[in-house]
Amino acid sequence: MNDVIDLLKSHRSIRKFSDRAIPQELLVELIQAGQGAATSSHVQAYSVIHVKNAANRELIAELAGGQGYVASCAAFLVFCADMKRPTEASERTGAKVVRGMTEQLLVATVDTALMAQNVAVAAESEGLGICYIGGIRNNPQEISDLLRLPKHVYPVFGMCLGYPDHAPEVKPRLPVEAILKEDYYTEDAAQVEAFDTTMRAYYQARSSSNKETDWSHNLKPLFDNKLRPHMRDFLIKRGFEMK
Ligand SMILES: Cc1cc2nc3c(=O)[nH]c(=O)nc-3n(C[C@H](O)[C@H](O)[C@H](O)COP(=O)(O)O)c2cc1C
Repeated sequence: MNDVIDLLKSHRSIRKFSDRAIPQELLVELIQAGQGAATSSHVQAYSVIHVKNAANRELIAELAGGQGYVASCAAFLVFCADMKRPTEASERTGAKVVRGMTEQLLVATVDTALMAQNVAVAAESEGLGICYIGGIRNNPQEISDLLRLPKHVYPVFGMCLGYPDHAPEVKPRLPVEAILKEDYYTEDAAQVEAFDTTMRAYYQARSSSNKETDWSHNLKPLFDNKLRPHMRDFLIKRGFEMK
């Protein structure tokens, strides 16, 4: 349809990177592209930590569940929801700030994700590959300590960036009919069933990590146990109290 839409539709996560470095000017440009994202009430409730320290990168790779590409990618960024900056700015004007509202957690997390996705798209437009790393929430307290994150800031996810050293196939997405509903919510089990057939074929045929499964079966570990049950207490401790 156009180059931007083609780029968006050709996204695939990259987990093997060449040794080629990302110039600092390009990295800054990517972050500025991220900052161009819409932001709730202009609050810009995010900070990004570029983890350059090699020992810290190795440690984060382990803390994220043994994800080696955290250490081997050209640049590793941790996207943090940051309610410290805007609340303190408001306080400096004399406002009596109320902290710890659930809405603030949502605002900061959504802002951070929108910003990060702009960075991802900008990076891909420059020929870079990316992989989000939600695995940092396996051990969010250790990650926060390592990055010296203050209260009211929490690490939402990491992102590996670098020049791709493999070319994985684009992973299919659900049929658009399941996602785009007209006027009212409609059931979509039939589309999911069709998608399971698509995904089974994809997993059988793809060039690496083939497996005998489909989308619905692949979701099992996400939903048949309590995923990262530490997150609630962790967020409360960081000042995101969900009041
Ligand atoms: C918030 C978020 C966290 C993710 N965390 C990880 C991760 O820790 N490790 C990983 O290898 N991939 C991670 N991914 C990548 C997803 O597995 C991937 O986007 C999904 O399987 C779709 O594949 P694709 O990106 O190649 O289209 C994450 C993606 C998102 C959006």
